Amino acid sequence: MKILVAGGAGYIGSHVIVELYKKGHKAVCVDNLYNSKIKAVKNIEKLIGEKLPFYKIDCCDKKKLETAFKKEKFDAVMMFQGYKAVGESVTKPVAYYRNNIDSALTIIELMDKYNVHNVMFSSSATVYGKNAKSPITEKDKALILNDITNPYGETKAMIEKILTDKAHADKRFNVVLLRYFNPVGAHDSGLLGEDPNGLPNNLMPYVAKVATGKLPYLKVYGNDYKTKDGTGVRDYIHVVDLALGHVAALKCYKKKKENVHIYNLGTGKGTSVLELVKAYEKASGKKVKYKIVARRAGDVDRLYCKPAKANKELGWYAKRDLYNMCLTSYNFENK
Ligand code: UD1
Repeated sequence: MKILVAGGAGYIGSHVIVELYKKGHKAVCVDNLYNSKIKAVKNIEKLIGEKLPFYKIDCCDKKKLETAFKKEKFDAVMMFQGYKAVGESVTKPVAYYRNNIDSALTIIELMDKYNVHNVMFSSSATVYGKNAKSPITEKDKALILNDITNPYGETKAMIEKILTDKAHADKRFNVVLLRYFNPVGAHDSGLLGEDPNGLPNNLMPYVAKVATGKLPYLKVYGNDYKTKDGTGVRDYIHVVDLALGHVAALKCYKKKKENVHIYNLGTGKGTSVLELVKAYEKASGKKVKYKIVARRAGDVDRLYCKPAKANKELGWYAKRDLYNMCLTSYNFENK
């Protein structure tokens, strides 16, 4: 298939493009490089061994994005574009709603105009809301939008709804919604990984900076949760496994019976903050200093999934373990 990858220079999109090429697909990368670098495109090219068609375009800019739709004939679109910093979304909600919803609507309108009907959306476990009980299955639902704790998460839920409504109205549309748990780790080559601007908000990129001496210590947000060691438990999934989940989900486009397909992409295993710190120390051979501090607002004690539906229907399993997630993260950070 020839696939438009919106946000293809970013952390997850870049890994997906590499796995698409490995399976004989082709991609066209569209990215405004707001939160990514042209170097990622060059590194993807090193890994796929050929030139990657690249358009430096903001997906909210319909006129410019249309040039890509006019020139290329896409079989499918994968949407990774959008702002993704949870904390920032609380202080800049309008920017998040404008950018994330606008870019999605623009892409969908152009898909309509150019007869592209297959779309895959990078969604998040955050759509299950703060009251969901782990292990979470696809049938669990945030009952009201306010169960979602931040505007970033709300844009994910809203775009899921927009795509679902479109699929119900137009049976030619085939929508895949992939709900990620906590993507971490990096490509084995050390060429692709998560490179956030400024201070990282998420746990593993922060631990990476402590292990490499760029930050003095990790703040562990609370050790009084109802979990095995009191620290928060999450379902960390290796970004390469996550990328392979997208490739496996392409088979949904062959199914004609239903046209909205929803999958959890996680390992199904819960890991605490302190377990992750220990695994990171083992993989890196470095000490990760930490201090226990107060809980972070909005955090829940545990969040992990049941990936049985993706296992059964897509034949996809997350295979990389926590050690490998830490090792690849450390190698990337060191480069
Ligand atoms: C968050 C988002 C999720 C998003 C994901 C990846 C929410 C509710 N969830 O997940 O939508 O997809 O990031 O971008 O906002 N922790 C520390 N110290 C730190 C950082 C984190 O102790 O410096 C702890 C947290 O309290 C939590 C765990 O580590 O228990 C994981 O946190 P984080 O990596 O930020 O991910 P989530 O909050 O689970």
